[in-house]
Amino acid sequence: MASTPDRKDSHLALALEREVEFPDRDATGFGALRFDHDALPELDLDEVDASTTLLGKRLAAPLLVGAMTGGTPRAGEMNRRLATAAARCGVGFALGSQRKMLTDPAARSTYAARDVAPGLPLVLGNLGAVQLNRGVGVPELRALVAAVGADALMIHLNPLQEAIQPGGDTCFSGLLARLRAVAPEVGVPVLLKEVGCGISEPTARKIAELPVAGVETAGLGGTSWSRIESLRTDDPVKQGVGERFARWGIPTAESVAICRRALPDRVVIASGGIRSGIEIAKAIALGADAAAVALPILRAAERSVDAAIQEIARLVEELRTAMFLTGARTVAELRARPLRRARDLTALSQGSDR
Ligand SMILES: Cc1cc2nc3c(=O)[nH]c(=O)nc-3n(C[C@H](O)[C@H](O)[C@H](O)COP(=O)(O)O)c2cc1C
Repeated sequence: MASTPDRKDSHLALALEREVEFPDRDATGFGALRFDHDALPELDLDEVDASTTLLGKRLAAPLLVGAMTGGTPRAGEMNRRLATAAARCGVGFALGSQRKMLTDPAARSTYAARDVAPGLPLVLGNLGAVQLNRGVGVPELRALVAAVGADALMIHLNPLQEAIQPGGDTCFSGLLARLRAVAPEVGVPVLLKEVGCGISEPTARKIAELPVAGVETAGLGGTSWSRIESLRTDDPVKQGVGERFARWGIPTAESVAICRRALPDRVVIASGGIRSGIEIAKAIALGADAAAVALPILRAAERSVDAAIQEIARLVEELRTAMFLTGARTVAELRARPLRRARDLTALSQGSDR
């Protein structure tokens, strides 16, 4: 994601003030799936334990605040609120693109999640893959990770966003070789993520050949970067292209299943339009290790830290309730619960209950 101050602030403003989510109800694909409701779960709700280990860190629930921001005073305040809420709830926290730090070391304070929330169980750094074609190598990546105390580094893949964005960087050739060379040298696990178009089977197969720890799907159905960038540009041609591609990509549920199959031993984080704990539960049953939620927590944090805490607590309580109703005491048991194709409207509404 581009990270000049203007861009990061205009991304924040658009995400907070405009309609930037996928317009169709349930484009993620989760609504087409249902669990077997168990009216005899042989379990007390109090016994349900949503805690899990992700990238070697213990989380209170398989949830992260998704990668969003940093680099400007407004972004810094947002990171402070998001990190405080994530730490209070015991979930993971992903920083937005650290590109700004490459040219302006003073920007570090706007990414200082660990300073404001030392209790954070898991912090992920972030940079666009295309930066590897712009002179960024192992020393720079190591410095970005060290500066924020990241436990892992997310490298984002955003070709559609760059294609629509004014001044976007669309030089994506040669990235596989560069990723192969740098990933084992960063000193922390490296994960690859999309930003809203999902990871397809051909992409997952390419990723399987790379020495990376895992992926975050960021599939179709949530925040649309094609839409955000078409709202930002004055160029009518780019606006039209952005709107045309608003439906481009792999629905999140499908992408999670694909990634789990193609990357059986790697971390798979589900994201892209996940709006309820039921959807987190379904993502886990499809094979995800955890889920990341971005826009709804950002909107809550814009109101207050307490609102962000409440939003995370709601997601976790919905997940625990889904675990209770499927007789799953632990996240490992939930992963083994079968999902069925929903055949009627009642089942459909189970998955889209946002
Ligand atoms: C305001 C905003 C800024 C974002 N910036 C980044 C970023 O810098 N790096 C990145 O990898 N993803 C970024 N994303 C994408 C999210 O991490 C996530 O993949 C995407 O929004 C889908 O999740 P959602 O539907 O829950 O919002 C951003 C999302 C939002 C809403």
